[in-house]
Amino acid sequence: MHKADLGPVTLPVARHDTFDPPPELALWRQEAPIRRMTYADGHIGWLVTSHSAVRAVLADNRFSSRVEAQHPALPHMVSQRAIPLPAGFFLRMDPPDHTRLRRLLTGQFTVRRMRQLEPRIEKIVAGRLDEMERQGAPADLVSAFALPIPSLVICELLGVPYADHDRFQHDSAVIVSREESEQNKLTAVADLLSFLNELVLSKRAKPTDDLLGGLAESDELTDEEITGIALLLLVAGHETTANMIALGTYALLRNPSQLAALRADPSLAPGAAEELLRYLSIIDFTVRGALEDVEIEGQTIKAGETVTLSVPAANRDPERFERADDFDVTRQAGGHLSFGHGIHQCLGQQLARNEMRIAIPALFERLPGLRLAVPEEEVPMRSDMAIYGVHRLPVAW
Ligand code: HEM
Repeated sequence: MHKADLGPVTLPVARHDTFDPPPELALWRQEAPIRRMTYADGHIGWLVTSHSAVRAVLADNRFSSRVEAQHPALPHMVSQRAIPLPAGFFLRMDPPDHTRLRRLLTGQFTVRRMRQLEPRIEKIVAGRLDEMERQGAPADLVSAFALPIPSLVICELLGVPYADHDRFQHDSAVIVSREESEQNKLTAVADLLSFLNELVLSKRAKPTDDLLGGLAESDELTDEEITGIALLLLVAGHETTANMIALGTYALLRNPSQLAALRADPSLAPGAAEELLRYLSIIDFTVRGALEDVEIEGQTIKAGETVTLSVPAANRDPERFERADDFDVTRQAGGHLSFGHGIHQCLGQQLARNEMRIAIPALFERLPGLRLAVPEEEVPMRSDMAIYGVHRLPVAW
């Protein structure tokens, strides 16, 4: 039977096991790594599950990121369907618009600025640990540690007053939820945009020494574009990293031999962060639309067709990673696709890595007796969100 003759599937996202991707994905990757998939609106496109094919699609600019303009009802994710994209939201733009904005942003994400942030991250992490010790056990690791760290860091980087974090944390949680109504998502986007727009205007009037202040000095960008960029950075920058810190901690607690290895040799921290990114693959998928007929590994994807790229399936591909389903902090996990690949590869990856490398080891060092405070089955998993993780992680020490 020709591979394309296999019936279309729908994308499973619910993880039955806490850390492993839905088991169908491994089967399909073996059977036909590029196969037909039925989307929520009933149209048929493609699902890609092997590491090589996911990477090939992401590297190929004949696939567009402006998917919401081509197919109004793709699987539900940030910035699609009823949510009109704000100006400046370059995650969903193609060259040359994407190139112009990305270049301006790369100029702000400098090695120097990232280095300057490191001692600030260390201070922020220590501050949260002080607070946890002061309050005493038990605690919810998400609200006490994993979420405030990236929130504080992104506020500092952008120059957003942290006093406003309740507002944007609530709004961005609504935006990335799979369960919220479209009306609620629209309201959340509008609220965040109006908050950020005021901030941008104040920075235009009085320049500040932060990333938004830097963008506000540019006359190449409109106020709306800077506001949209700020929205993208705020939403992309803290839910993702927060979930990696919380789910990463949970994965280490559930794998005591890996935790022991990391504790015995702190130089493993960077590799452990990389392996957590690969093993946990918290972004379930990303979507592209073919602008012309493209052949990928012998399969023709026709112009206008939608392609869903399964990041968890690619990161567990045994052709790319030996013992791909094992969590091993000593492995070379580089080459995973958790930050994407190609022109849209995550702009904040260095920052996210730094936060993980600093926060996770500091947590286990300060609270060596850290353990779950509830039975495993009572940990609420984020199966309802586009970014996987834990809603809460009750811990004691
Ligand atoms: C893009 C993952 C942290 C800002 C992406 C993409 C992925 C990703 C998979 C590509 C999406 C696509 O191609 O469709 C992650 C993960 C993170 C993380 C797993 C944490 C562990 C951050 C942080 C920031 C950030 C901390 C900002 C400070 C962005 C931006 C883009 C992006 C601006 C769009 C880049 C472009 O379109 O050129 N991220 N991200 N991310 N990320 Fe991240």
